Formats: sequence, C-alpha cells, structure tokens
Amino acid sequence: MELAERLKKIPPYLFVEIDRLKSEKLKEGAEVIDLGIGDPDIPTPAEIVEVAKRALEKAEYHRYPSNPGSIFYRKACAEYMKRRFDVEFDPEAEIVALIGSKEGIAHFPLAFVNSGDVVLCPDPAYPVYHLGTLISGGTPYYLPLTWERDFLPDLTSVPKNILEKTKILWLNYPNNPTGAMATREFFKEAIALAKKYHFIIAHDAAYIEQYFEEKPLSIFEIDGAKEVAIEFHSLSKTFCMTGWRIGFAVGNRELVQGLAKIKSNMDSGVFTAIQEAGAYALSKIENLVPPLRRVFQERRDFLYEALRKLGYELKKPSATFYLWAKVPANYTSGEFCKKVLQELAIVITPGKGFGESGEGYFRIALTVGIERLKEAVKRLATLNL
Ligand SMILES: Cc1ncc(COP(=O)(O)O)c(C=O)c1O
Repeated sequence: MELAERLKKIPPYLFVEIDRLKSEKLKEGAEVIDLGIGDPDIPTPAEIVEVAKRALEKAEYHRYPSNPGSIFYRKACAEYMKRRFDVEFDPEAEIVALIGSKEGIAHFPLAFVNSGDVVLCPDPAYPVYHLGTLISGGTPYYLPLTWERDFLPDLTSVPKNILEKTKILWLNYPNNPTGAMATREFFKEAIALAKKYHFIIAHDAAYIEQYFEEKPLSIFEIDGAKEVAIEFHSLSKTFCMTGWRIGFAVGNRELVQGLAKIKSNMDSGVFTAIQEAGAYALSKIENLVPPLRRVFQERRDFLYEALRKLGYELKKPSATFYLWAKVPANYTSGEFCKKVLQELAIVITPGKGFGESGEGYFRIALTVGIERLKEAVKRLATLNL
C-alpha cells in the first residue's frame, strides 16, 4: 500500500542501527547498560499512585473525560504556574490538558501552519518539532545550537526573507539533548523578534523542574510573552510519570484555543483518574520533587567528574538528566556510539540522531542508578581509542 506523501517526507529513524546492535548484544547475553533513553528508572512517588488508585474507583471517571481537561486539573496547572513563576492564567481559556507534552507538540503545528510556512527548529533537538512541522506541511529551517553560544540559537543569523515566512519558533529550555538553560536576555530577544515578524514562540518546558541549581525560567516570566507564546509542560520527567501520559499547554488564549480545537477533533482527552493524580502531583510539587532531583544531581555530579577525568569534553548541565559530550577526535558520533556498544555493551546516543549540528557529540541519559554508572565508567576507562 502506498504511503501518503506526508509520511514519505519523514526521514528514517536515526537510531535504527543502535537499536539493532543493542538487540544483538542482548541476544549474546551481554550485560547491557542502557544510557540511551530519557526515561527515569525511578517509580512515580507512592502518594501520587495512591491518589490514582482511589480515583480509579470513581465511576464517573469511567466515562469520557473532558476534552480540554477537567477544570480541577487546569486549575491545579494555573496555581502551579502562579506559585512557581508568578504568572496568572485563566484555567478555562489559557490552559489545555495534554496526553503527554509530545502529543501537544506534535499537534500544535496542525492548528497554525499552512504549507509554505517556515518553522524555525533548533538543531540538535527533540525530533518532534521538525517532524510535526513536516506532517503539517510546513518547512523546517534549522537553527544550530553550538557549544560556543552555550547552545542558544543565533536568532540574528536568520535571513529576513525566512523570518517573513516564519509561523513558529520552537525553543526548548532546559534543553534536550544539550542540558543548556535559556537566559532572560535570550527570551527577551526571541519575544521581540516574534512581535516584529508576527510569529509564534512555542516553548517546550518539559524539563523545567529537572534542575539542580538555578531555577529555569518560564518564557512567561518575561514581559510580552503572553502576546506571542505557548508553553508545553510535562509531568513525565518532573514526577517520573512518563508512562502515565499527562502534561499541559499554557499561554496565549488564541494559541491554546487553536490547539484545543485540533485536539477536540483528534483525541478525547486524558483519563480523569490520571488528571486527578496529576492535579495532586502539581499541588505537592514542592515536597515531591526535591528528593527526585537529589538522585539525579548525585548521578550528574558523579558522571560529569568521571567523564572529565577520562578526558571527555563536556559542560556541566545545570538542568535535565542528560550529559552532552564531544566525541573523541577521529570518530563520527555514529562510529563512536557503535564502538562503545559493541566493545563495552553501553548504549549511548549519537548526537547526529538529534540533527546535523549534533554531529561530534554523544548524549548520556542519567537514567540508571549510581552503581550502574560506576560500572559504565569502569568499562569506558578500558576503551581503546
Ligand atoms: C524535549 C522533550 N520534550 C517533550 C518530551 C515529551 O515528553 P512527554 O510526552 O512524556 O510529556 C520529551 C521526551 O523525551 C522531551 O525530551
């Protein structure tokens, strides 16, 4: 059967080779250490699970959920945004529940992008920005994130004729895969440009609670953001809830309503019992999250120091659970990750999988315990480069 043109535009999955080699290693009986995927190994805090268990018993939740999200959930999102960032949102009009932030990120361009519109996508990046763009018929224009610029795109490098055709600028801070944070000045510059050229800023804030020192900014902490921006939040990483599928989008009313309209035609909302657990989690974030953060901080500190001692070049991330390091000289990111997997049975992710500008780097996810990380370091120390 012939695939639709829009699907033919989707490039092949870049981690195919790594996945194949991993399966081979497992078949050989190797003790594989998987530092590839960004999926925490820690279970969801028990209190949240208890709330969900009780919610499961409520017969009224067994029916279709509210499409844009139950008002109690959207109020909990608004209260969180107020407590954490001191910004006010109308839960009815300016917040929509998401089946995980990926769902919202992928659907958002369908509400605003026409064919021929340009979408500015960071590179390297979480692939859904450019894939969502392609599916919506838009044209991605890539913004390289470089070491020299602390992985913030150079917005002044985008030609005027591109800016004039731009519909959305995707940003993601704290950043996957680089671990970088945005500055207030950078967000200010982006907002000014969006206003000048009448485009949308879609900010993916999936890791905004995954910080170790300074608190990351919401774009809405910067004046004028509400005129141009929508922000995507996720409960996945914050509360180790990746399997539950819950997040929310918040921001400019027209942007949120556009997304809600698309969604109301494509899905039927988030299971209400999960929304109840999500509302509880957000209301208790100040108690629930610090212990989780400490676990990841210990891992980050250990692995950062260990990699430096082994001679790898990397910046210490102050947020996310990723380390983004330069591959040793004379290897491409693909060659290096393949060698590490074949010789050491450690899965790490080649930077090129996140885009052309990711070449020269590899990503390590801190999603295994400290003992496994120690074992990984022991193995890495034996690598013959
Ligand atoms: C940058 C970024 N945004 C969004 C997501 C999606 O998270 P979820 O759909 O679980 O909320 C991920 C998941 O890995 C991510 O890395």
